[in-house]
Amino acid sequence: MIGISKIIVTSALPYVYSTPHLGNFVGSVLPADVYANYLRMRGDDVIFICGSDVHGTAIEIQAIREETTPEKLAKKMHEGIMELFRKYGCNFTYYGSTHTAQNKEETYAIFNALNRNGYIGEVQKELPYCNFDKMFLADRFIEGTCPVCGYESARGDQCDNCSSILDPNQLIEPHCTICGKKEIVFKKTRNVTIKLDKLQPRLERFAAKSSSTWSKNAVNEASKYFKEGLKERDISRHMNWGFPIPLEGFEDQVFYVWFDAPIGYIGITKEWDGKKWQSYWKGKDTRLVQFMGKDNIIFHTILFPAMLIGADLDYVLVDTIKSYEFLNWEGKKFSKSRGVGMDLQEALSVVKNPDYWRFALILNAPESADADFTTDGFVEAVNKIINGKIGNLFQRVFTLVSANEQVFDKKAPVDQQVNDLLDALYKKYTGHFERIELREALKTVVAIADLGNAIMSEKEPWVTAKAAKSDQQAAKDFSSVMNGLLKISYYVALTLFPFVPSSSRSALKYFGIEGDPTLKDISRAPDLKLDGAPKPIFEKLTDQQIKKIGSYS
Ligand code: 2FM
Ligand code: ZN
Repeated sequence: MIGISKIIVTSALPYVYSTPHLGNFVGSVLPADVYANYLRMRGDDVIFICGSDVHGTAIEIQAIREETTPEKLAKKMHEGIMELFRKYGCNFTYYGSTHTAQNKEETYAIFNALNRNGYIGEVQKELPYCNFDKMFLADRFIEGTCPVCGYESARGDQCDNCSSILDPNQLIEPHCTICGKKEIVFKKTRNVTIKLDKLQPRLERFAAKSSSTWSKNAVNEASKYFKEGLKERDISRHMNWGFPIPLEGFEDQVFYVWFDAPIGYIGITKEWDGKKWQSYWKGKDTRLVQFMGKDNIIFHTILFPAMLIGADLDYVLVDTIKSYEFLNWEGKKFSKSRGVGMDLQEALSVVKNPDYWRFALILNAPESADADFTTDGFVEAVNKIINGKIGNLFQRVFTLVSANEQVFDKKAPVDQQVNDLLDALYKKYTGHFERIELREALKTVVAIADLGNAIMSEKEPWVTAKAAKSDQQAAKDFSSVMNGLLKISYYVALTLFPFVPSSSRSALKYFGIEGDPTLKDISRAPDLKLDGAPKPIFEKLTDQQIKKIGSYS
């Protein structure tokens, strides 16, 4: 038997300082989940890895504010977010965390190898230090007056008013945002670095080989960085929360969150299975497919590959990068503080069926350009498409067959033209999936349903059904049309699976399929199993729900 090659699908690891919003969801976890579902249906040996990115300044500061420890806060948030993804039907092989013994082990192994291979350096720096809190302040924890426009709440790295890029020492009358005091001094210190400049030639060779399977925005951004020339970049921070730097003289610092986060993909796989992880991450022909939002491109095209290439420990490097643009909400950026857009929790509290969100989000995914979520668009996707086109087709087909069982012959041949059209649409669907064009793949499912609805309107089988009671030819025609419609409904039910697994399962039950379908099932003759009158699988949104969604703008 020819071995099936292994595939690792990853989604960018969500931070835990806030609940992911629908834009975050459609920009990474959801498409990765849809794609992993498809690969499983195809019969691949796939693992789908994700988890919480728990380190970083934001969580440390939030813990100080909430008078708890970063570890406790991160754990609580991690569990809540993981549970939410479960409610949305996400089927991770494992949802782990970056703060584990396994990830620490991998982080140290990679760092030590980089160091042995001459890719670790150090820089001298002058950094802001709060004499009251007794800590160095990350850029976002020092604020002051902008030297360019006079705005009073400019941050250490940037002024939100005039967009000037700043250095913390340019701020006028800076204060610490943790204690609010102005007891800031600038202290000389050292940071550990990774020598990306030295790794550039190897990285460029890798990118040239691999980037034909990267999204356009990833290819463009990586080549822009290469042109500018990669710079040595610091990977240590003066904080407590994180993995301590295992190097003499730097023990009071921890790894920068973007160092141990991507290693988290490996660490989480190891957390999943202490033995099997190696067969994926060190497999000769493993394909690594990574989903992310466009703000993560630099880390997955440059930093993470640089770390693995420099370490030379035979880890699998990324093959496919699927980087999404952003989703806006009614033309605006998502913003919790301004009440724009819904997070995963809010969305589910208004519309409980997660499949409606999954369906509408993928149908409008920001695959090649920014997209806009609108309440009208959502209503259309749910009421007109999944309910009106798909749900109605199921309901009418199942009802017509069950009401006319006496004249229905399930062996009557399906019209050849219908078979051909269906074959072509199914090919189109798998083609889109092979190229990870999920939005188009879903539109193709809708097109299959459209075919069914068009046949229904044209052939009016309820009319032939009446005549069929006394006319054999009419009975034949009716059966042939209904077999075509059953086949179409079956294709819709099956091809929906990666997108809306739970609704797909409900529809497939009518065809006697229990459990998760595979692509091979498509060639089974659909055999309707009705146990009483069919129940609708979808329903319309209520006015109240629509109004509530509209209030998040
Ligand atoms: O942007 C983010 O949400 C990051 N937490 C993604 C990390 S991806 C990975 F490399 F860990
Ligand atoms: Zn302070």
